[in-house]
Amino acid sequence: MKTAEFRHNAHCPVLGLGTFKAEPGVVYNAIKDAIKIGYRHIDCAPVYGNQREVGQAIQESIREGVVTREQLWITSKLWNDSHAPHDVEPSIVETLDELNLDYLDLYLIHWPVAVRKGLFLPESASDLIPLSEMPLTDTWFAMEKLVDKGLARHIGVSNFSAAKVAELLNVARIKPEANQIELHPYLQQRQLVRFCQMNRIHVTAYSPLGSPDRPARLKEKDEPTLLNEPTICQLAEQHDVTPAQILLSWAIHQDIMVIPKSTSAKRLQENLAAADIQLNQEDLAHIEQLDKHRRYYSGSAWTINGSAYTLKTLWDE
Ligand code: A2P
Repeated sequence: MKTAEFRHNAHCPVLGLGTFKAEPGVVYNAIKDAIKIGYRHIDCAPVYGNQREVGQAIQESIREGVVTREQLWITSKLWNDSHAPHDVEPSIVETLDELNLDYLDLYLIHWPVAVRKGLFLPESASDLIPLSEMPLTDTWFAMEKLVDKGLARHIGVSNFSAAKVAELLNVARIKPEANQIELHPYLQQRQLVRFCQMNRIHVTAYSPLGSPDRPARLKEKDEPTLLNEPTICQLAEQHDVTPAQILLSWAIHQDIMVIPKSTSAKRLQENLAAADIQLNQEDLAHIEQLDKHRRYYSGSAWTINGSAYTLKTLWDE
């Protein structure tokens, strides 16, 4: 499979496995199946509530000789309640303990948003800490120390706008190497992708399939469903593949990494095979026209009444 090159000649397979919404009790088998059929890149986060089980499946796969630790690329993320510099190292240590690993290949700041320690989501505006009080650059300096200590081999960000990435680039001793963002044909983020790629920052697309298993509270009535998009379905038919495979292949053709989530053995296989599909310029041009700037994850959890964050300051657009 094609890989993305990181510092020190490290290589990350462009198609990985997402674990958000992969339920405890199910995710263990999914990870074991995935590794068995050839997945080598797994995307995790403590906030997904399943890292212990993910870790057990990884360990078991290594113990059975299916894979070695060095052959795997494991990403995890710093949650929003741990942006204070003194909370950064304890957070990765906890994640490493959950995943039963000595180091992460990639550690990301999950959101450019700070909440009070111990919180998952804010319940009132006072649970949110403004960036003026908890600057992203201070969190970044603590992230750099994780690389010095060998706890993370590479560091990056998630849900960052170009302006916020630039703020880090201005001061970073170790530059962010990845920005994980929502990206699919309805939200193509061309400017942000161009900015990241010009600065040698890899873009990883989350929700590449439009996240159909999002909680109902995050769904809007009559929202467009990516997997049913007529252009995508038509291309799938022409190439004799599935709509999901077209979506994944489209991202990979633009040197964007993708992390589709699945816990079904059949769909794990299907998604992995998408890395080998060839689309032509005409196919890509058809998909380019689908952009609607449609976020499935609006970020509104951080912009509750009275919050220091607004959608405008969150996304800088
Ligand atoms: P499942 O886990 O049952 O396979 P995203 O990565 O955009 O968040 O999307 C994940 C959702 O898409 C899950 O509901 C997952 O269901 C579903 N999914 C994953 N792979 C495919 C596929 N190849 N075809 C259709 N749906 C898929």
